[in-house]
Amino acid sequence: MMEKHNIVELRGVLPHDLTYFFQFQLDPEANEMAAFTTENPADKVEFLSHWKRILDDEYIIKNTIVYNGEIVGNISKFEQFGETEVSYWIGKEHWGKGIATQALKKFLVTIQERPLYARAAKDNVGSIRVLEKCGFSVLGEDEGFSNARGKTVEEYIFKLEK
Ligand SMILES: CC(C)(COP(=O)(O)OP(=O)(O)OC[C@H]1O[C@@H](n2cnc3c(N)ncnc32)[C@H](O)[C@@H]1OP(=O)(O)O)[C@@H](O)C(=O)NCCC(=O)NCCS
Repeated sequence: MMEKHNIVELRGVLPHDLTYFFQFQLDPEANEMAAFTTENPADKVEFLSHWKRILDDEYIIKNTIVYNGEIVGNISKFEQFGETEVSYWIGKEHWGKGIATQALKKFLVTIQERPLYARAAKDNVGSIRVLEKCGFSVLGEDEGFSNARGKTVEEYIFKLEK
């Protein structure tokens, strides 16, 4: 039998991937971590219309993350606050396998644009670690209302120069 090699691949988002993304973004612990999430992750109509806007927007680069052939998350590049940001989400059952780090490294090779920015709640240790391992460093701080936590949450702004 062929051995699995823990391969992370990125590909374009296909309609049926949204079923997986919807499940991933339902998880309360993931919402708490990410903090800046939608008001009601269980609202599938809102979720699908949000993703329709993303899929229709040619300026948003979005990829499905595939791990050993399995759909495990998504990663994207978009404009926010006049800057180009990256963001990612991995399904909880796949956390801690190095997937986000590998996915972001691969994504950064496909995106020529620099600088790139990213934001993470100050206590989102996993995401902060992923960004640092991929060469991002803290540029500043901000805060915003977190739907997931129902309060204002502080975040770091990260920048990747090269
Ligand atoms: C944050 C997230 C992307 C991390 O994904 P992942 O695939 O588990 O990350 P990796 O396996 O590549 O881990 C990278 C590093 O972070 C560490 N890490 C990951 N999650 C962690 C956690 N919850 N607490 C502490 N460290 C964590 C890993 O140990 C690893 O560090 P190491 O290489 O020094 O051992 C994932 O938990 C997630 O999607 N969370 C919900 C959505 C979210 O927060 N997205 C980011 C918004 S800013």
